[in-house]
Amino acid sequence: MNGLSVYPTFIDSYKKLIDDFIITHFDKMGYGNKFRHNKFSLADSMLYTLTTPGKRIRPIFLMLAAESLGFTDKKRILPFASSLELIHSYSLIHDDLPQMDNDSLRRGKPTNHIVFGEAAAILSGDALLTEAFVMLTDENYTEGLEPGKIIKAIREISYASGAGGLVEGQFHDINSFGESLSLEEIEYINKKKTAGLISAACAVGAILSGAEEPVVSEFRKFGNLVGLAFQSMDDVLGITGNKEVIGKTAGIDKTNNRLTVAEKIGLEKTGELIKEYNDKAMRHLEKTGAETGKLAELIIYLTNRIS
Ligand code: IPE
Ligand code: IPE
Ligand code: MG
Ligand code: MG
Repeated sequence: MNGLSVYPTFIDSYKKLIDDFIITHFDKMGYGNKFRHNKFSLADSMLYTLTTPGKRIRPIFLMLAAESLGFTDKKRILPFASSLELIHSYSLIHDDLPQMDNDSLRRGKPTNHIVFGEAAAILSGDALLTEAFVMLTDENYTEGLEPGKIIKAIREISYASGAGGLVEGQFHDINSFGESLSLEEIEYINKKKTAGLISAACAVGAILSGAEEPVVSEFRKFGNLVGLAFQSMDDVLGITGNKEVIGKTAGIDKTNNRLTVAEKIGLEKTGELIKEYNDKAMRHLEKTGAETGKLAELIIYLTNRIS
């Protein structure tokens, strides 16, 4: 893994495919403008966070994982990939609530509850999470895919989103503000709240490509390690970044008295840990015989990112 800070040129075209798919889906569903309160509809609140530019890395990991094993049918892949962005956006809206991290800036804009109010933010988060499963089970999207693969993929995503992953991680995270955690405990929280969904993204890409369990399992491990590196880098940027570039409040972890990996072991050692996670991740990927080029490029970019 070298230290080149290059933005892979392919990212923007993947982002466009994902964003276009999401908009087309919402247009098709026609959620709407019928009931407006204080000039806003539920869909306005959902789309406010969902369509604001972000890195879209979870869907991109899924697409690259599928492609790395030779499955390139974007029409079949995009609903699975995009559903992850709906789940991720819901988690961001809830993460920013006063009862959670209490943040007022997200993706460079006022957070959802600041614009729409707390009740609407809770409800639009709920609706985004649920809509992910509407998207995942739309017959027009899954046509031609084996039912067994669809069920396996949906289970992977469900598990990573709930008590087996993101929600459990958030529960521990929020309840350990002010506590002196061990590195292992911090790693456990990061694995659950962040790495789980990235791991599921990679596993689902492999499942859709028709890979057998041993290969899917290597993709799961790859995604878990990459996810740990990603959250560690997020925590570094929470210290070193400034709000104009990261698009969220810098220093919020300190304000919340939340012990991150970067705070626990320092910036230099966190940099070494990120490299270790990534190197181990690549070793799992290399075992699968997949075409690793784009995934490796994505990891280099994520390790050197400034936002
Ligand atoms: C932020 O995720 C929350 C974490 C799990 C670290 P991202 O860094 O992927 O946020 P966006 O989607 O680019 O805004
Ligand atoms: C967010 O973790 C994890 C999820 C939203 C599941 P953080 O609270 O560390 O992420 P940011 O820094 O607010 O994006
Ligand atoms: Mg949080
Ligand atoms: Mg937060």
